[in-house]
Amino acid sequence: MEIVPLTGELGAELLGADVRRDEDFETIQAAFIEHSVIVIRDQKLTPDEHLAFARRWGPINVNRFFQKLDSHPEIAVVLKEPHQKEVIGEGWHTDHSYDNSPALGSILHAIETPAYGGDTVFCSMAAAYDALSDRFKELLSGLYAWHSSRHTFGESQADTESVKSGRLGNAALAVQDALHPVVIVHPLSGRKGLYVNPVFTTRIDGLTQAESDGLLNILFQHCMRPEFQCRVRWQAGDITMWDNRATWHKAINDYHGHRRYMHRVTLEGCALQAG
Ligand code: SIN
Repeated sequence: MEIVPLTGELGAELLGADVRRDEDFETIQAAFIEHSVIVIRDQKLTPDEHLAFARRWGPINVNRFFQKLDSHPEIAVVLKEPHQKEVIGEGWHTDHSYDNSPALGSILHAIETPAYGGDTVFCSMAAAYDALSDRFKELLSGLYAWHSSRHTFGESQADTESVKSGRLGNAALAVQDALHPVVIVHPLSGRKGLYVNPVFTTRIDGLTQAESDGLLNILFQHCMRPEFQCRVRWQAGDITMWDNRATWHKAINDYHGHRRYMHRVTLEGCALQAG
């Protein structure tokens, strides 16, 4: 297997890897811990093979809000039809940060891709943390932030296209908030990274809303710098797996009139420790 980094900070393509092969798993796992986003082309997995690869990492965490694949409810459907305008996951976010034990990672498998566009962009939270000044790191040390699903998946979203089309649902379950350190130690790599994101982080604990908005805005603008990013261009059959404790991601909504259909499996994580 050849591991080709996508950028200096984030992501790698694993050439010659096959997620079905037992003997490839250790190298895939090591590449995931080092690069945070791994791309494995041309896998064309059945849903059972997708789930078997996911189970190599540990238990699956079934997303409460995404449409599920009828035949395999552990698989979330990520779909945009040609007539639809909204994309699921368009804002910068970290999957499941609203949970007390946020997801370890997500494994997205491209079933059908548009003729152009529909890339996914990722951002390294470790690179973003490293680039802060020592004084700013001191300021963040010991802070905790609230993360919520209410405003994204709750009743207030009932009129959106994503809910009306059945791609998102279960608004009544969007009631949980979670408190996480603003700086975490990655459970696998031991590297420090920021753990706040624009979609789900609502407030830094103990600050006024204005203070919190100001500080989060500084962090969000900082994290969005292109030098912390990588971008994945999809073809049908590709697998991309990302580390939810080390990255943000966003789906690019630039392919109106085309269909994009993906299957996503999300992995159980653990409570996060302050860095
Ligand atoms: C997601 O946010 O999980 C979906 C990302 C994508 O569709 O590219």
